[in-house]
Amino acid sequence: MTDSLTIRRPDDWHVHLRDGAMLKGVAHHTARQFARAIVMPNLSPPVTTSAAGAAYRERILAALPEGMAFEPLITCYLTDNLDPEEIARGHGEGVFTAAKLYPAHATTGSAHGVTDIANIYSVLERMQAIDMPLLIHGEVTDHEVDIFDREAVFIERILTKVVRDFPQLRIVFEHITTKDAVDFVRDSGPNIAATITPQHLHINRNAMFAGGIRPHAYCLPVAKREFHRLALREAAVSGNPKYFLGTDSAPHSLSAKESACGCAGIFNAPFALESYALVFEEEGALDRLEGFASIHGPNFYKLPLNEGTVTLRKMATPVPESLDCEGTPVSPFHAGEEIGWRFEG
Ligand code: DOR
Ligand code: ZN
Repeated sequence: MTDSLTIRRPDDWHVHLRDGAMLKGVAHHTARQFARAIVMPNLSPPVTTSAAGAAYRERILAALPEGMAFEPLITCYLTDNLDPEEIARGHGEGVFTAAKLYPAHATTGSAHGVTDIANIYSVLERMQAIDMPLLIHGEVTDHEVDIFDREAVFIERILTKVVRDFPQLRIVFEHITTKDAVDFVRDSGPNIAATITPQHLHINRNAMFAGGIRPHAYCLPVAKREFHRLALREAAVSGNPKYFLGTDSAPHSLSAKESACGCAGIFNAPFALESYALVFEEEGALDRLEGFASIHGPNFYKLPLNEGTVTLRKMATPVPESLDCEGTPVSPFHAGEEIGWRFEG
């Protein structure tokens, strides 16, 4: 019986750190477990210029406790009329690691997103030329398309075309939730990868309706049917370097979640590695956690592997109902449960 697990220090390849007091309240949870993180740009206003990206990076570093080592990797929010020069400058200056495509109105903070993929073709052309990764929220927004089908339809209508038209572009299909996405990524070239969140490995869509409406299980893309969850688990533990860790930790206040129109997002940062470790343990694949958490991501992003290690110990870890994030109560993923692993640092 394994009672502790030591792996190379991991990174989070998809996280929402927010801004202002919430940033101060949540960033340390991510920085405690991860050396680096790809930070989402869906602030208000969104991060669309190199100057705004550099300023956000400074705010993140300033929000961390003294002496906490952490490298935020900033992303640029793609809009309909972003200048390819701005993206290239931001990338050249070392501010933008990647750029994020939100289809307009697909999710929280996506009102300024892209209304038609054709509008960013010149940007994608430029990104391909400078080898800058494109990160995609892969859902169509068409109201006639059932919410549970939006990822699969995105693959069919948009992603297939983008991959065909930009065959060298490095793409991360973010927070995949379906077997369709697992298969698409596996069967594409080595320049196509995906992140997988802890929640999509743990819950299926029933979790949102277990005995009543459960706003804390609601995120976008929404959790899907059980067979999709099983396909995601198989992909995550497979050892295939195309799949890697991205929590999509997305904190909202308790009141914003528990509302007549609750926000999408699951705050999983405080127990992220414990949550993944549980999945890998259940799948009998603890020896593959390190690849998923610490190796596949940097290799895809062409960044060095982290030095140093972290240790997880096998012991009961109670997860509180809510955590105080600089004066705002936020409910963490697994609230009220006991996870069988503890992150020791
Ligand atoms: O559930 C989500 N929350 N999905 C997203 O794509 C955005 C995120 C947020 O920013 O709250
Ligand atoms: Zn996200």
